[in-house]
Amino acid sequence: MDSILVRGGGELNGVIPIAGAKNACLTLMPATLLTEEPLTLTNAPRLSDIRTMTQLLQSLGAEVSSLQGGKVLAMSSHDIHNHTADYDIVRKMRASILVLGPMLARDGHAIVSLPGGCAIGARPVDLHLKALEAMGAELDLRDGYVHAKAPGGRLKGAVVEFPIVSVGATENALLAATLAKGTTVLKNAAREPEIVDLAHCLRRMGAQIEGEGSSTITIQGVDRLGGATHPVVTDRIELGTYMLAPAICGGEVECLGGRLDLVGAFAEKLDQAGISVTETERGLKVARKNGRVKAVDVTTEPFPGFPTDLQAQMMALLCTAEGTSVLEEKIFENRFMHAPELIRMGAKIDVHGGHATVTGVERLRGAPVMATDLRASVSLILAGLAAEGETVVSRVYHLDRGYEHVEDKLGACGARIERIKG
Ligand code: UD1
Repeated sequence: MDSILVRGGGELNGVIPIAGAKNACLTLMPATLLTEEPLTLTNAPRLSDIRTMTQLLQSLGAEVSSLQGGKVLAMSSHDIHNHTADYDIVRKMRASILVLGPMLARDGHAIVSLPGGCAIGARPVDLHLKALEAMGAELDLRDGYVHAKAPGGRLKGAVVEFPIVSVGATENALLAATLAKGTTVLKNAAREPEIVDLAHCLRRMGAQIEGEGSSTITIQGVDRLGGATHPVVTDRIELGTYMLAPAICGGEVECLGGRLDLVGAFAEKLDQAGISVTETERGLKVARKNGRVKAVDVTTEPFPGFPTDLQAQMMALLCTAEGTSVLEEKIFENRFMHAPELIRMGAKIDVHGGHATVTGVERLRGAPVMATDLRASVSLILAGLAAEGETVVSRVYHLDRGYEHVEDKLGACGARIERIKG
């Protein structure tokens, strides 16, 4: 298994291009199942999670071609001959559950493996299932699989009120509702930019959707959807991660394609910590010119709040801030697994339930550390860049699920970082 070796200490200066959003792409790809015509995604990120979704769609009978080195995904689902999403693929990636809504909406039946647990908590899919049930689906849970049927072969519009905000459940319901008979209203829907991007793509395909980006989305079901070409929105989590690189190490980095509206709450926290963020014609420029950053308190929330997917990276910054910060994780239980690893690097962190209290130290020290999940792994790399000496981050297969060419992107800004093949 590969590791990443980081030699810390230097400033970072330069330009980093931000890729298309992994989480948007993972919900846009299953939209191919809604139409027999071609769906093409441009600005796709080149990541192992995208290859997993490609495999899953291909196993169902979809054609998926990766063009221009993976930046373009050309998909066609004119012949879906298998309606079972197998455990072997689904267990690798929870987002696989997103094929359930589209398959059910298109052909009136689907069998999808339940994803099972994951490193950052129990993460059930009950809200996905309840939304589809409200739309008339009959569900049977057998042998670890959801067996789903739409009576009469078609889902019907419904009012679905989510008890808590769920990105995935909103996406599954939105995908399914486009072909349901009648009107669907999703209440307490997620407002994430990835949902807005999905709605834009579905509209290009002929769907009738209103209210995306707000907590009520209304979908008027249509009889059929057509093909489209759609550019994947910028990855706000990759953007936030690279914005933190000069914040942690000092220097100035311009993130190409970055937009303030994608990272508003996060940029506000950077500002409070003493980091400058400015909009440029090409993206966002982030600089830390002098002095230590200041401690800030952070609470993760659904969009437009501070994203849980940037909590680990923000913690890496706060480890060397002046003062004490409290991070509260409200989206996932058990999402502080990076804390013990940061402590190995000299950080002072006290985790109690859903809170972590971080008392800043002047300097972290390099150490061998282990990545436990995707965002944790990149937080350890960021911490290593700011630390004295060498840090080796092992088990980086998580990293490749969500960050393309991380060594090249940081290396181009002066980071001393290399991959050790293992
Ligand atoms: C998506 C993102 C993930 C991000 C998360 C929160 C993708 C592929 N992944 O995950 O990177 O961290 O949003 O921004 O887009 N829940 C239930 N029942 C359900 C579904 C969710 O109880 O059926 C709970 C979860 O356990 C969690 C909360 O709802 O506590 C929010 O999860 P959700 O928004 O659904 O996250 P994902 O869509 O899985």
